[in-house]
Amino acid sequence: MEFITLNNGVKMPLEGFGVFRVPDPVQCEQAVADAISSGYRLIDTAAAYMNEAAVGAAIKKCDVPREELFITTKLWVQDASYEGAKKAIQVSLDNLGLDYLDLYLIHQPMGDYIGAYRAMEEAYKEGKIRAIGICNFSPARFVDFCETVEVKPAVNQVELHPFFQQENALATMKEYGTVPEAWAPFAEGKYGIFTNSILTDIGQKYGKSAAQVALRWNIQRGVVVIPKSVHKERIDQNIDIWDFTLTDDEMKQIAELDMGHSEIVNHDDVMFIKMLHGLRIHE
Ligand SMILES: NC(=O)c1ccc[n+]([C@@H]2O[C@H](COP(=O)([O-])OP(=O)(O)OC[C@H]3O[C@@H](n4cnc5c(N)ncnc54)[C@H](OP(=O)(O)O)[C@@H]3O)[C@@H](O)[C@H]2O)c1
Repeated sequence: MEFITLNNGVKMPLEGFGVFRVPDPVQCEQAVADAISSGYRLIDTAAAYMNEAAVGAAIKKCDVPREELFITTKLWVQDASYEGAKKAIQVSLDNLGLDYLDLYLIHQPMGDYIGAYRAMEEAYKEGKIRAIGICNFSPARFVDFCETVEVKPAVNQVELHPFFQQENALATMKEYGTVPEAWAPFAEGKYGIFTNSILTDIGQKYGKSAAQVALRWNIQRGVVVIPKSVHKERIDQNIDIWDFTLTDDEMKQIAELDMGHSEIVNHDDVMFIKMLHGLRIHE
């Protein structure tokens, strides 16, 4: 495993394990246990995934020391305010059974996220969180955010895969020392990514799958990846990406796959924003 150093000196693994859409606690705990035994140390959950307790159970039972793990969770829209975030941080810590988080992210650029971030800055300064950041901030919103807050975000977790590469967003994050983290590094399985001929042809040369090539490509752009799987053999496969390097020509071939837009989410879609505001995770 390789690491990237965040803007506050904290070291973050370049690859982690995501648990979005794994609501069943038994399956989630098993998947996280499998991931940790495969060598993953970063686990990416969120209050809205409703599986923090299952992630916590796997952490508690594993034999890896807490300081070697890197646990991320996220603040949901419903709690996006100063008081809401103060409570939500403690609820997530309690759900996970932890006394500190490695990374805490604002899940969506919605609600009073500036107020929420103030509570996160306080928790960061108190040592309850080792690094703080955001998700889904488009370049203009990201710049506005960075120019407003005191503690610059360590990470911006956004959709990044071969079909939506967002080079402009990466350049803007670099300007502010923020590390990009890819959600949906496999485009959630869309566009035939696992059988795409450019990715499979490149993979053949190294004895790797299209999935492994897609992860490697993001890592070589300095992007942290958090692939999700509930299948042990895929969990193993997805972390077996540290023994090969894509050439500049192969990176350029993958660059050709960029569609320049997302077909997964649209933060300018009125119905999508209303839907997220309506998604309540507690009373
Ligand atoms: N901040 C945000 O707004 C946000 C949004 C979305 C996701 N995320 C985070 O990013 C993580 C990853 O994104 P994601 O879960 O949406 O999608 P993803 O990782 O791009 O894709 C997951 C899909 O790929 C399949 N898969 C995994 N490895 C495979 C392999 N080697 N071969 C073939 N199929 C494979 C999985 O199936 P099986 O599970 O059946 O193997 C699942 O259907 C999430 O889990 C979450 O932690 C964050």
